[in-house]
Amino acid sequence: MDWKIEQIIEDKQVQQELREKGKLPRHVAIIMDGNGRWALEKGLTRTEGHKEGIESVRDIVKASSLIGIECLTLYAFSIENWKRPVHEVGILMKLLEHYLKSELDELHENNVRIKAIGKLNSLPKVVQKLLHKAMTLTSNNTGLTLTLALSYGGRWDIVRAVQLISLDVRRGKVSPEDISDEMFSSYLSTKDLPDPDYLIRTSGEMRLSNFLLWEMAYGEIFITDNYWPEFRRDLFYQALESYMTRERRFGKTSQQLSDNEKGSKDSYLQRVINVVKKGNR
Ligand code: FPP
Repeated sequence: MDWKIEQIIEDKQVQQELREKGKLPRHVAIIMDGNGRWALEKGLTRTEGHKEGIESVRDIVKASSLIGIECLTLYAFSIENWKRPVHEVGILMKLLEHYLKSELDELHENNVRIKAIGKLNSLPKVVQKLLHKAMTLTSNNTGLTLTLALSYGGRWDIVRAVQLISLDVRRGKVSPEDISDEMFSSYLSTKDLPDPDYLIRTSGEMRLSNFLLWEMAYGEIFITDNYWPEFRRDLFYQALESYMTRERRFGKTSQQLSDNEKGSKDSYLQRVINVVKKGNR
């Protein structure tokens, strides 16, 4: 199903208003938390919570694609999640398998490019195969880049990058003086993605939980008390609205930012004046 065709007029309008309000984040990352608590509060099983969580995944992926977000990264299974009861890990892997099987065609049809980051070789073979298929099929798509963080940990990725750089130093391919921020980033599993502009975490916890530790150096954070299964596009739009009211200074002062803006406007004005002057000569 083409998502643009099924999108209702009110949703189109809300998205248009948001786009007009300001600059959307290029890259949104989400810690999807609270499936278990949502289920327990309703007297349901944790599995029901994860199933409902997948409905939120579906809705947020669609809304992100339609509104024009470039990259969406979802923390679907952390490296620490392997410590959960075997039964629950098995259910999460089955749900992931089901999601990849049932959604792939629709994601592809809607121009979504699928990626995965994390220690992927720890995942069940069937999931690895499905991920490989999804990434290969969608690799040339130009719409939303959907990255699933699976068996992922920020520290794992950083340590792995250090190991890879050390190997290259040993082989004489790079020297220690070559190591810079940019160079280091190019050894991370997120190397093809811009740094996240916005991290959303559901269920009120105020921590990064080992997610995108390096990449979140200047990312904005939004925390909502809603559990992940409740987090649908209406709440997502509220989160985006909050992003747009923020001033991102990247270590600079507000004054510097407004001077820069004024500077770029002045130089634009100057260019227009020059063109007009030339035309009058
Ligand atoms: C947190 O809830 C959520 C997870 C550990 C897994 C997230 C997985 C999904 C939403 C489903 C599969 C994902 C995809 C992309 C198909 P929790 O169990 O930690 O909740 P709790 O903190 O309330 O116990």
